[in-house]
Amino acid sequence: MSVAPAGPAREGWGSKTGFIMAAVGSAVGLGNMWRFSYVAAEGGGAAFVILYLIFVAFVGLPLLTSELVVGRMAQVSPVKALEKLAGPRWKPVGVLFAFCGLGILSYYSVIAGWTMRYAVDALRGVLPADAASASDYFGAVGVGTPSIITHLIFMAITITVVTGGIKKGLERTAIILMPMLFVILIGLAVWATTLSGGGAGYAYYLRPQLSELFNPTIITAAAGQAFFSLSLGMGALMTYASYLKGKDSLPKQAVTIAIADFSVAFIAGLFIFPVIFHFGLADTIGLGGQISDNTVGTLFITIPPALLSLAIGKWIVAAFFIMLFFAALTSAISLLEVVVSAVIDTWGWTRIKASVVFGLMIAALGLASAVNLNFLGAMDKLVGTMLLMLGGLLTSILVGYKIRDEAEAEIAEGMTSPGMRSAWIGLMRYVIPPVLLVVMIFSFPGLITAVKALFG
Ligand code: TRP
Repeated sequence: MSVAPAGPAREGWGSKTGFIMAAVGSAVGLGNMWRFSYVAAEGGGAAFVILYLIFVAFVGLPLLTSELVVGRMAQVSPVKALEKLAGPRWKPVGVLFAFCGLGILSYYSVIAGWTMRYAVDALRGVLPADAASASDYFGAVGVGTPSIITHLIFMAITITVVTGGIKKGLERTAIILMPMLFVILIGLAVWATTLSGGGAGYAYYLRPQLSELFNPTIITAAAGQAFFSLSLGMGALMTYASYLKGKDSLPKQAVTIAIADFSVAFIAGLFIFPVIFHFGLADTIGLGGQISDNTVGTLFITIPPALLSLAIGKWIVAAFFIMLFFAALTSAISLLEVVVSAVIDTWGWTRIKASVVFGLMIAALGLASAVNLNFLGAMDKLVGTMLLMLGGLLTSILVGYKIRDEAEAEIAEGMTSPGMRSAWIGLMRYVIPPVLLVVMIFSFPGLITAVKALFG
């Protein structure tokens, strides 16, 4: 089943590689570099990595495939797509997706702004090299006016890219930045092998403490991380797939995206863990403890001063934050695109008007996160964790129950084995909804803590 495109000439990707790069760009973000290694550090290292892989394989990958299927089938933005494929009662789900994009980008952009600031300051040689001043420094540039300024600059860049459209904006940006990101990342991981004492870091990261596999906090953290990292639950990849024209295999593309996303997170760990152990930061970061509720800022505070004690440190820190900035930008444009494509398809606005008006709204909402890190943390828990899970739950019900036959038909060329197709539908029907429900329940205390921190 196919729905007529919104306009006579809806945009499309220039090439298959362009689509893959853009989708990998969406998935690979601050989550991979900074959230992944930090949460992995607290969550028992290798045990967390294993749990994360299990969630990626059995929850993330099937859902990612579903998003691609729905998006390509509909050829319109999620708000319209869900209404047309499943009826008017599903329209609010598409609206929820757009709100998630708006909410996540508002605080994501604040963190992305810090990465720009730290990259520039590393090159200027003004980042402090001792731990105490590093914490003060973050307090000075991470909150308030400096944070507002870098947030607004980052939003301006994001809006500019999205006004350029699919081929000239999103695709071109991803094709330029993603290879550079890979090169920097591999360079950093290779450099980290030269650090003495890094062996303990690799061991912690790669040798699982099996007891942690059954720790509910860590299971929940791994599920949340898998979700956030793959950009699931808010129609981001659904939106990207709606610009696909051909009939290429969607499962193959889903696997490519998931592998690329995991690899980046994993290699980032191969840089971070030796650094943590070489500089004796394990206690500062609190390895193997409980996942703390305020992860925001930690890597900005602990990693740079340690590295700056080395002669080449300035360059390593700069490369690290430039890489984070590239990762953040290619994700931010996908968050804004979800909103922009919805506005274009439902209200018929021009791309430029939609990007600028909604980009500015998001920038305004982000001011709250830039002046109050507790607000940022609460948004991450409410929108970046809970609402994404809800979105994923609804997506699995949509594909597993509501439009099951159409979805199976759409995926058929790419998944020729009927057994595989039944397994995929089975996961959407019987496995993913209960798993997500349980994970949402376990994530609830974290949300409450974050909201209390905001008002307390
Ligand atoms: N996946 C990105 C990261 O790991 C963040 C992101 C981009 C995202 N687009 C998204 C998260 C859509 C959820 C939904 O940093």
